[in-house]
Amino acid sequence: MKTIQVKTESARYAVVCERGALSRLGGIVEKVRGCGEVFLLSSPRVWKFWGRAAARALRLPRERVVLFDDHEIAKRVSTVEGVCRKLTRARADRSALLVAMGGGVVGDVAGFAAACYLRGVRIVHVPTTLVAQVDSAIGGKTGVDLPEGKNLVGAFHQPAIVVADLTTLHTLPARQFRSGLYEVIKYGVIGDAELFRFLEHEMEKLLRLDTRSLEWVIERCARQKARIVSQDERESGLRQILNFGHTIGHALEALTGYKRFLHGEAVGWGMLGATQIAVEMKRLSERDANRFSSLVARCGQLPALPRVSSRALVRAIAGDKKSRHGRVGWVLPRSIGAAEIGVNVPDRLVAKVWRELPARYARTEN
Ligand code: GLY
Repeated sequence: MKTIQVKTESARYAVVCERGALSRLGGIVEKVRGCGEVFLLSSPRVWKFWGRAAARALRLPRERVVLFDDHEIAKRVSTVEGVCRKLTRARADRSALLVAMGGGVVGDVAGFAAACYLRGVRIVHVPTTLVAQVDSAIGGKTGVDLPEGKNLVGAFHQPAIVVADLTTLHTLPARQFRSGLYEVIKYGVIGDAELFRFLEHEMEKLLRLDTRSLEWVIERCARQKARIVSQDERESGLRQILNFGHTIGHALEALTGYKRFLHGEAVGWGMLGATQIAVEMKRLSERDANRFSSLVARCGQLPALPRVSSRALVRAIAGDKKSRHGRVGWVLPRSIGAAEIGVNVPDRLVAKVWRELPARYARTEN
């Protein structure tokens, strides 16, 4: 069993990365349960594959299972209200322990419900997608989207433990898996050149869900995430580095009504845009930018960019929650394995890169 420790100012907890952990969930959760009852929060599509195993492991009656839609479009305040009302009807009290089993949307919605319900109850995350196992389940960010922007309503609420069972990735649709790979590439670019080289060598194996490659990659990313959030729980500095690709990515998600892109795909485009900005600003070599875009292309085809004017994009970027007085501190790569935060990028350069992005990337793919 691989256990990674997260030590933030407000909490200490373990991230367990283990094949078959789901069948041992009862014993793992028992260690952090306290005196309260356990409630399982998940979505119908995750429940279909893993619900029975989880309920059996937790010895859970059906009344203590709450299911909700986990499409990005459903990551909204009304879904959190629905979850809280179901918890009330199931008589969850302040000692309750919520177990959130699913991908990023399940974790973000359930995590936010846990942060608010009865002014806060405890939560365990059981991430079942690649993006959730390497990123969103670790670090306590929870929240929902507004039509105006991504994750604009939320709270920091650290889990009691994170339990990642790598076998759950085998029921993940290929597109969802690839979407997680873009976030994996992110970790290589921002802080781990060895991981990036590994991805260059092993991408095809990863796409075939090769066990050893996958285990190595997930542990490597989870360790990096744990180290970063342990140093900067509330994103006052270092944690901002995890937002590489998210400035354009979040704008794209909001501009397309959270329907066209999976989160990782929007981040994939966002990283390509940020990388090109870094080249134009002479902060990154063409060679490293080419290595990066070739690796992204090997993950598979990204959904086409929408027809959005550069003005609309710049406006959406200014509305992102990371902006201050309408200005955004960009995360730009300096080399493979190193990035800088808080970079000021002129709007006209963002607009130029946006206009050229589809054609430039199409050349990489061919
Ligand atoms: N997903 C970015 C963060 O957790 O800070």
